[in-house]
Amino acid sequence: MARIVILTGAGISAESGIRTFRASDGLWEEHRIEDVATPEGFARNPELVHRFYNARRAAAAAAAPNAAHQALAALEADGRHTVLVVTQNVDDLHERAGTQNLIHMHGTLAGALCAGCGHRWPAPTQMQVTDPCPACGKPKTRPDIVWFGEMPYRMEEIWAALRQADLFVSIGTSGNVYPAAGFVADAMHAGVPTLELNLDPSAGTRMFDAARHGPATQVVPGWVHEMLARDR
Ligand code: APR
Repeated sequence: MARIVILTGAGISAESGIRTFRASDGLWEEHRIEDVATPEGFARNPELVHRFYNARRAAAAAAAPNAAHQALAALEADGRHTVLVVTQNVDDLHERAGTQNLIHMHGTLAGALCAGCGHRWPAPTQMQVTDPCPACGKPKTRPDIVWFGEMPYRMEEIWAALRQADLFVSIGTSGNVYPAAGFVADAMHAGVPTLELNLDPSAGTRMFDAARHGPATQVVPGWVHEMLARDR
């Protein structure tokens, strides 16, 4: 029974039609991070931020899990390995593919958060800052998304899992944003073997013990097939 920690990024959802961030047609080519992905941007113009996330929520709802999401769910369902998926993504494609053991370290489009009292509740399809918080009633509703300058969720759990893993796999992430971009170094320092599955070499690709480059819907099912065939 191997303990496998799998980090995913926008690249695993790209073939489901969900835009990535740093490609030539990426979201950060069209929107300034400081306007739509920081607490300061939200304080300055909450309507702009809600328009950005309402559009991403609609895009995620219109998308379907692809063969890469399904392969990771199959690896977990097989039961011979303990699989933890740590995703930077805020879409729900891992859940809809059947992955159970999942941490959304950057939050999710499915969550609403009160910037006043911290209450959380299921997000409506189209969210407005004036939506009253169900707990305190204040019109300070924001997406439950971790913005730049905020601490990602459940980091102690993630670092502990990385230290105790038998294998760390990074899928579909450019390795530009910390702390996720540091997971390969954390794994390496703990003596955990590392594998990168990505369309092209990430910023940290040289730190990985092994790497396979290609579309996630090809390289991820290929790797899972090998894992399941090997342990028969
Ligand atoms: N298959 C596999 N990998 C792909 C595919 C694909 N079809 N398409 C793109 N990729 C890879 C790209 O090569 C790139 O390395 O996915 C990666 C996407 O990189 P980014 O757009 O930077 O997305 P990500 O790494 O998830 O960004 C991390 O940055 O803006 C913040 O919070 C945001 O969670 C996000 C974080």
